[in-house]
Amino acid sequence: MKKYNIAIVGATGLVGQTFLQVLEERKFPIKNLYLMASSRSAGKKINFMGKDIVVEELNESSFDKDIDIALFSAGGDTSKKFSPIAASKGVIVVDNSSAFRMDDEVPLIVPEVNPGAVFNHKGIIANPNCSTIQSVVPLRVLDEKYKIKRIVYSTYQAVSGSGLAGIKDLENGLAGKPVENYPYQIAGNCLPHIDVFLENGNTKEEQKMIDETKKILRADVKVTATCVRVPVLHSHSVSMNIEFEKEFDVEEVKKDLASVKGLIVEDDVKNNIYPMAINSKGKDEVFVGRIRRDQSLDNGLNLWVVADNIRKGAATNTIQIAELLIAEDKGRKL
Ligand code: A2P
Repeated sequence: MKKYNIAIVGATGLVGQTFLQVLEERKFPIKNLYLMASSRSAGKKINFMGKDIVVEELNESSFDKDIDIALFSAGGDTSKKFSPIAASKGVIVVDNSSAFRMDDEVPLIVPEVNPGAVFNHKGIIANPNCSTIQSVVPLRVLDEKYKIKRIVYSTYQAVSGSGLAGIKDLENGLAGKPVENYPYQIAGNCLPHIDVFLENGNTKEEQKMIDETKKILRADVKVTATCVRVPVLHSHSVSMNIEFEKEFDVEEVKKDLASVKGLIVEDDVKNNIYPMAINSKGKDEVFVGRIRRDQSLDNGLNLWVVADNIRKGAATNTIQIAELLIAEDKGRKL
């Protein structure tokens, strides 16, 4: 089997560390693995499959070596500066930041939803926002059958979405210490404020969910979102209210959802079965439940969708994109 040279940019971060776990679990065919981070981490050793790898400082000549795919998760500014440098040297970048997601020349990919778009790249492919990824997984099949008119997202997002700093703020808050990352205490609180506020009143996180859903699904779908940070360590939950053009049958919808690869239906309310953050932690699938008609609309449906934001919402989706690339490689240079 052909093996590939892979680089991880942001290897010491929460998502970077999860890249390593997921690459190992999925037996990604790696020839050489290069780990890159800031000067703060240069020289640090990280173990991968029994071998210590020394972390390199990311710089302009980091991609002068033979690298097939670079997985980036080191923040938007790092991606903006270094992804084009990597791409100019023939490396395919799969970028976890929001830097290029809305760029017309950059495919935005959720492998269960729009895998075919992956090859329309010019060296950079974007991984969507964590909440967007889990939300669109159930939508493709429903849009194809019942045509979505409008989606209302309300999110309940874990602090790990803010990296190690978010986790620290929740842990400190529980110990009665002040926050450093969020504007207010997150322990025992809900913050309707994720990322910065925009001129139109949405936060950037809400705008990402709106814009990215349209880019992945269909430009003329109407979307609105309210994104809330909650005192949960791992896994985002999203309440989705969907209005369709066509009529549907709830039992048929359950079957439609059960047919989606990577989506698990957990919907047995008589036995208190529904998706929960505590159960999805560490899993690669998206979980959907509370599947029911919205009685206030002609063709309205409510769903509750949960996924591990660091795995399916970030690391796993990024590596699934890399798997799409190598599946079609057939021996040519990617
Ligand atoms: P470092 O650990 O050296 O700071 P998280 O969001 O979980 O905190 O992770 C951020 C990741 O991005 C870390 O691996 C961090 O490396 C990396 N990073 C942050 N800024 C830079 C930069 N300017 N150049 C390279 N890597 C960076």
